[in-house]
Amino acid sequence: MSEHELTMRAALVPAYGDPSVVTVGNVTRPTPGPGELLVRVKAASVSSGDARVRARRVPSGMGFLMRLALGWNAPRNPVLGTECAGVVEAVGADVTRFRVGDAVIVFRGAAMGAHAEYVCVRDDGPVAPKPAQLSWEESAALLFGGTTAMHYVRHGARVQRGERVLVVGASGAVGVAVVQLAHLDGAVVTAVCSAANADLARSLGASRVIDYTRDDFASGTETWDVIVDCVGNAPYARSRRALAPGGRLVRIVCGLGGQIASLWQGRRAGHRVIAGVAAERPEDVRALADLAAKGAYRAVLDATLPLERAAEAHARVDSGHKRGSVVLTLA
Ligand SMILES: NC(=O)c1ccc[n+]([C@@H]2O[C@H](COP(=O)([O-])OP(=O)(O)OC[C@H]3O[C@@H](n4cnc5c(N)ncnc54)[C@H](OP(=O)(O)O)[C@@H]3O)[C@@H](O)[C@H]2O)c1
Repeated sequence: MSEHELTMRAALVPAYGDPSVVTVGNVTRPTPGPGELLVRVKAASVSSGDARVRARRVPSGMGFLMRLALGWNAPRNPVLGTECAGVVEAVGADVTRFRVGDAVIVFRGAAMGAHAEYVCVRDDGPVAPKPAQLSWEESAALLFGGTTAMHYVRHGARVQRGERVLVVGASGAVGVAVVQLAHLDGAVVTAVCSAANADLARSLGASRVIDYTRDDFASGTETWDVIVDCVGNAPYARSRRALAPGGRLVRIVCGLGGQIASLWQGRRAGHRVIAGVAAERPEDVRALADLAAKGAYRAVLDATLPLERAAEAHARVDSGHKRGSVVLTLA
């Protein structure tokens, strides 16, 4: 850091490890280039993606690729955070869509960096107006699960009106978004979650709930057109008997071997297995913001903590039992 550079507070992950590696310190504040906005962050989620990077806990077979992409011995960018909500503080040349003072939501995705006082984003990139009726915390938790759900429900499985959709892990950040989008698209949704989250799943659009601690969706005779596995415990071998003819299995949590096998798995039975990493599309960010502004899509908050307690936020995410999203607030 040179003496002329401005600094900002950020949650830092200087080494891979358990939540105790997370600290709060000062880093260089970004400056907006041509076509970029500088956003002052009000709230940012700590997602399962952040916890995976911090702990270097990736699906089987992905460790080598992840280290190459994110840093061999420590995260190359110690500031994690995939999504945030905040106010446009400054704009670079040629910015046309936003002005200083606009409230926005930003998806940083794999680039991360949202656990800080400022982020930059391209004017034509993954940024959209903040839904006016939502709090900063709620607005900061719309996009991690939301863009994943958009990718798999709309672009991947292409869920159709009237189809029966089973969502395994319906109460996590991804699951709550998948339930809502599938319901919005006219599907009849069955949620797999614990009894404590049954009312939540129904309130988001599930018409039925299967309590995973008592019943196994795969052991009966019922079938679904689409099964979305947000937990990683419903591979094709377990799910195939529960897939209707022409059914699609969406494996949101899937190792490298499973991703390769998905290219041919199930084809003989007339099924399709969809796996991989969700694409980051600016148009999905705008669509989610529009849906949220209309009250058709919402975030679910598990806990809200100040930036200084980022390590606690990581620990809550590591529990594997958060309900929706954990959000950090910044002054
Ligand atoms: N492929 C991609 O591009 C992509 C993108 C985003 C996320 N992901 C992955 O998707 C996964 C889900 O993400 P997330 O943020 O939604 O996770 P999360 O919020 O941490 O999920 C926690 C939820 O899972 C529920 N759960 C735990 N075990 C369960 C089980 N056996 N059956 C049903 N529900 C269960 C918990 O409910 P209880 O407390 O009731 O157990 C809790 O509400 C993560 O592994 C993440 O890395 C992949």
